Amino acid sequence: MMPQTEPADTALTAPLKVPRHVAIIMDGNGRWARERGLPRLAGHRAGTKNIRRIVEACVEHGVEVLTLYAFSTENWQRPDDEVRGLMELLAEVIDTETDELRERGAQVRHIGNLEALAPSLQERIRHAVASTSHNTRLILNVAFNYGGRAEILQAVRRMLADRVDPASVDERTFASYLYTDLLPDPDLIIRTAGELRLSNFLLWQAAYAEYYSTSTLWPDFGREDFAQALLEYGQRQRRFGRV
Ligand code: IPE
Ligand code: IPE
Ligand code: MG
Repeated sequence: MMPQTEPADTALTAPLKVPRHVAIIMDGNGRWARERGLPRLAGHRAGTKNIRRIVEACVEHGVEVLTLYAFSTENWQRPDDEVRGLMELLAEVIDTETDELRERGAQVRHIGNLEALAPSLQERIRHAVASTSHNTRLILNVAFNYGGRAEILQAVRRMLADRVDPASVDERTFASYLYTDLLPDPDLIIRTAGELRLSNFLLWQAAYAEYYSTSTLWPDFGREDFAQALLEYGQRQRRFGRV
């Protein structure tokens, strides 16, 4: 692998290093609702409202890629009405947020299994992706119906279908078959609501990510909390296996 080196002027221009790619496991919507005696879906709705301020914070801090874990391949096992509500909420968020995201300079992408979603939702996602594809300020990667193991399996299937020569398969080739092809690996993975697990998120890409967990529930996770996570990241020493 290529050695990773910091640009020589980093210390002069930026007192703390900023992660290029931040990935967030947006957890705790259900608990947020329960604390208020509200239905779980009210928590999900409050959670979606939070996306805008975190996107803004990313733009301000100069983060290049933000990946948000919104629905996992395991979340289909939730009660039917919650799954239906989450699908409707995504459609609604696309309708209300795409213009704003486009104006902010965000390029929307989707990672996960799109084909398993309702055709109308697929259409909305494709439209949001196409209508922001020219933007370069921030890549907003939405992981919806995403699972790390499913992603690895689809990569293997596609490589076999392409009759890739086994001897030629290196890390770079493999990564190019993942949904995150050409994106840098996440530098920082934030999980809200206190759980200390990955829950099938970016299994391959997270190999050398820094982890940050906070007990704050996702709907309450604001600009200050995000800044705190970046501050802590800036103080971490990443060694990538070296001394
Ligand atoms: C995260 O919040 C949103 C999704 C997984 C879709 P949860 O719904 O998991 O919230 P908790 O964990 O029950 O509090
Ligand atoms: C992870 O949260 C998935 C998303 C945030 C979309 P979960 O709430 O589904 O994870 P577990 O079940 O606690 O591991
Ligand atoms: Mg949860």
